Amino acid sequence: MNIQNELWKELLHNLVQELDILPDKAEETPETTLSALWWKACGNPLSVVAAKNNIDLPELSSGQEKILRELIDRRLSGVPLAHLTGRQHFMGLELLASADALVPRKETELLAGEALNLLKKMATGEDHLVYIDVCTGAGNLPVALASQVPGVKAFAADLSADAVHLAQENVDFFDLGKRIKVLEGDLLSPFESEEFFGKVDLLTCNPPYISSGKVADMHSEISDHEPDLAFDGGPFGIAILRKLIGEAPRYLRSGGWLAFEVGLGQGEKMIKRMKKKYDYELVRPVLDENHDIRAILAQM
Ligand SMILES: C[S@@+](CC[C@H](N)C(=O)[O-])C[C@H]1O[C@@H](n2cnc3c(N)ncnc32)[C@H](O)[C@@H]1O
Repeated sequence: MNIQNELWKELLHNLVQELDILPDKAEETPETTLSALWWKACGNPLSVVAAKNNIDLPELSSGQEKILRELIDRRLSGVPLAHLTGRQHFMGLELLASADALVPRKETELLAGEALNLLKKMATGEDHLVYIDVCTGAGNLPVALASQVPGVKAFAADLSADAVHLAQENVDFFDLGKRIKVLEGDLLSPFESEEFFGKVDLLTCNPPYISSGKVADMHSEISDHEPDLAFDGGPFGIAILRKLIGEAPRYLRSGGWLAFEVGLGQGEKMIKRMKKKYDYELVRPVLDENHDIRAILAQM
């Protein structure tokens, strides 16, 4: 057995013994974690998903082995893997990730996939679809959608200046600067103008939807490393969702769509509220593999 195999076995053993993996990060196992950190130590950052598919690990120099051991120590101390690799896989893309914004979760691909289908159906070729993503975080939704639908002009906004910074980095990383404009501000306030009123084809949002009380109880890997602002949805978790469903109709064109993620147990109430209080033509739940409502689509 060569020395690299011995190193792999030793480090994997440590991870198997000590690594605590969060339930919403099922793609992370001791093996994929080690693989991702190994690539990072070699100066070739890959997300955990990409690392899983690149199993031919390069030989490490002694300096790189030292870096790898340090990365593993930091991971075992609770630093999220994506913060260490600087990458997160989302809708087939290797996005930049950092502590500036929430690490995009796999569960949000459910919303992204539905929104992408809507956008593709609306795209006719010579159009300039107007697409807004609010609470954009790392910019994962607009980058994923705009990179697949050429006719779309996208706008992304977030209240956090740090998130706006990371979203802009992702837009630049994917060379989408001419097609995605990133703005800072509270929910839809950056778009309060005639340019957008009644003109938006698609509005997406993955808002904070955890109740303030529960934010304090989140796992330390989340609470110590990801911004509270990404999770805190007010006393009942639905403050931003309520604002979103109330403000969206002003921006959507007739036939335009609102698509947003909800927390477990929030979907039915939101749908009821949308049907009762607002003039959406159609409101439809999107269920995950456990048959829970995890996103809502509504057409004006
Ligand atoms: C759950 S994260 C979602 C991030 C990203 N869209 C994703 O899917 O991974 C929610 C985001 O909303 C932002 N946010 C919180 N309150 C906001 C507000 N009032 N207006 C705009 N953005 C807000 C946070 O900074 C955070 O980036």
